[in-house]
Amino acid sequence: MRFIEDPEEMQAEGLRLRRGGALPALVPTMGALHPGHLALVQRAKEEGAPVIVSIYVNPLQFGPQEDFAAYPRQEEADRQTCEAAGVDLLFSPRELYAGDHSTYVTEEALSFGRCGRSRPGHFRGVATVVAKLLNLTQAAVAVFGWKDAQQLSVIRRMIRDLAFPVRVVPVEIQRDLDGLAWSSRNRYLSPEQRKRATAFPRILAEAARRPDGRAWATVELNRMPGFRVDYVEVADGRLCAAVWIDKIRLIDNFPCES
Ligand code: PAJ
Repeated sequence: MRFIEDPEEMQAEGLRLRRGGALPALVPTMGALHPGHLALVQRAKEEGAPVIVSIYVNPLQFGPQEDFAAYPRQEEADRQTCEAAGVDLLFSPRELYAGDHSTYVTEEALSFGRCGRSRPGHFRGVATVVAKLLNLTQAAVAVFGWKDAQQLSVIRRMIRDLAFPVRVVPVEIQRDLDGLAWSSRNRYLSPEQRKRATAFPRILAEAARRPDGRAWATVELNRMPGFRVDYVEVADGRLCAAVWIDKIRLIDNFPCES
């Protein structure tokens, strides 16, 4: 596995791969890799092209009160995970933005509801970093998880609107045995909170089977001790929700079945 930290070196390598006829597949991540990320890597490998994983905790997509400083960083473990998963190239830049960086990508329709409402500026940060990662890696394919459904639709819109020569490949949400979607932030949950959190996917899965799913899930989730509903909405044919469990914010979604 190649390991690249320098953005210029990454772009040179991306261009070299493209000149050689390869169509690299990129899996962008913020690290603290878990089985959800690995499903994306496996899907990328099915493309039969070089697989690039990027790990970068992107300061631009965190609000001032959010967990940027505390976000889990485990470089060595992630490197070994990528190596074992058969990743061809790990791109792990120390920094991506010049001190006087002043250019951003803003998607101005899909970014404002749901997570965009409680995280202003978040999708501007996501779109900007993904645009930059695509330019640096020269990826022809980009793999994203349904876990972040709104992120997936914002990125698809950006790629269409700005004519990035990139095909987006979505991957279904991967869950732990207790039903909770894998997330780097799950480690913030105490064992007791984790136990309570399993009600979140359970209620959402059942709601996705009901015609009144949105209203039903809102009531049921609010009844759970320590839960505060941020939103429950139908988008992209899925029932999407965010809840606070004490101070920890979780998101999840299920395809609507009715
Ligand atoms: P991160 O939260 O590390 O997620 C990286 C990718 O893994 C995203 O496409 C996300 O949807 C997917 N993913 C996370 N958990 C998943 C799960 N349980 N099942 C399936 N897919 C899952 O999303 C980001 O990083 C960042 O916003 C990024 C796109 C890298 C831009 O900084």
